[in-house]
Amino acid sequence: MSGLRQIAYISRATRPMDHLQNIAEILGESQTNNWRDGVTGALVFADGRFLQVIEGRPETVERLLTRVSADPRHTGVEVVLRRPVESRGFADWSMVVPRITPEAEPLMRQAVDLAVPDPVRAVGVLRRLAEMDA
Ligand SMILES: Cc1cc2nc3c(=O)[nH]c(=O)nc-3n(C[C@H](O)[C@H](O)[C@H](O)COP(=O)(O)O)c2cc1C
Repeated sequence: MSGLRQIAYISRATRPMDHLQNIAEILGESQTNNWRDGVTGALVFADGRFLQVIEGRPETVERLLTRVSADPRHTGVEVVLRRPVESRGFADWSMVVPRITPEAEPLMRQAVDLAVPDPVRAVGVLRRLAEMDA
């Protein structure tokens, strides 16, 4: 009945992202648009790579993926997971970007490293990060 789709992708940042400003900018745009479009998800950054999960109505998340893929702030967008889901994994967040803390940082790296070999587990790690940040 729900008809929800979850998509995860990895990509490489085209500019140094250590500037929190850059992430803050992306986050600001994302939260406004995603709230409007009924999209939820999570975004982490580690070792020059992004891992993002987006979820919502299939046509909405596919449109968002197309828009985000064209964003010059990153490149090499590779979808690692595309699946129907019964319920949202990130229902409470229009887009959560977990804060970089000593406990969170190794998990962010782990999530990015797991994205290709085991994307479902990578999404699980993102959920833990989101919960830690809540
Ligand atoms: C790694 C990354 C993740 C992004 N995630 C989202 C997102 O979840 N939602 C969104 O609307 N835009 C996201 N963006 C920004 C879009 O690429 C695009 O700049 C923005 O949606 C345009 O918004 P506007 O049409 O309101 O100007 C992301 C960009 C990057 C680089």
